[in-house]
Amino acid sequence: MTDKERSVAVFDSGLGGISVLKELKRVLPNENFIYYGDCANAPYGVRSADEVRALTLSVYEKMREKGVKAFVIACNTATSAAAQELRAKYPDDIIVGVEPALRPAALCKEHPTVAVLATPLTLSEKKFAALLGKYEDRAKVIPLACAGLVEFIERGDVDSPELKSFLRELLSPLKDEKIDAVVLGCTHYPFVKDEISHIVGEDVLLFDGGDGTARETKRRLAEAGLLRECGATGETVFMDSNYPDIKNPKDSIVLRFGGKFLCN
Ligand code: DGL
Repeated sequence: MTDKERSVAVFDSGLGGISVLKELKRVLPNENFIYYGDCANAPYGVRSADEVRALTLSVYEKMREKGVKAFVIACNTATSAAAQELRAKYPDDIIVGVEPALRPAALCKEHPTVAVLATPLTLSEKKFAALLGKYEDRAKVIPLACAGLVEFIERGDVDSPELKSFLRELLSPLKDEKIDAVVLGCTHYPFVKDEISHIVGEDVLLFDGGDGTARETKRRLAEAGLLRECGATGETVFMDSNYPDIKNPKDSIVLRFGGKFLCN
């Protein structure tokens, strides 16, 4: 197999990274992907940074053993906790992370009010403080930690009455603000963007990092001369840590919901 034929690894604590995979498949239709959801250990966002670092490193090394040509950490939480360490440990690897899309949101109009929804760990890490520092003069930024939301999505629940009432309660601190934009700072949240939009108002702009991550991945592959240039559409293998011994398990949550979410 030539280096160009190797797969791109995309991984997350669970299903969320499929929102990034969807953009990757759009921007890089010829590439083969291995998607790994660490569903057995989700959610990451309420764990300690040390725990998330260790989990991310272990998933990364599993993917590395598969001989992939690039790694997309399709998880804001894992990127915040572990990307720096991974880049230091594997300086020659192509590693693309995600971060809350605060930049486009902060620049969407003159001094907008922007809510950033993310996991507690993402919002408490140094990486987010640095991002905030860059844009706090340009926008009023309201970080909102969303503990509990990922669990709904991991169950494949993106529209039940319970989910809707959970979201209404979660977003209630924003009620008295005139919000211009919401950043979906966790890769799970795009799967409930319609419900979020319904609550905050259809005129509020929503931003996520999927498209930017996919374009950055393409740029890095092109720079390294590793784009798969054949005419055939690439394939995706889904893996789920709940089913470690079964290759491509048909009944795994990633396959069942991954397929459903990708078709949306
Ligand atoms: N999807 C992840 C993120 O982007 C993490 C969700 C979780 O496991 O808490 O932050």
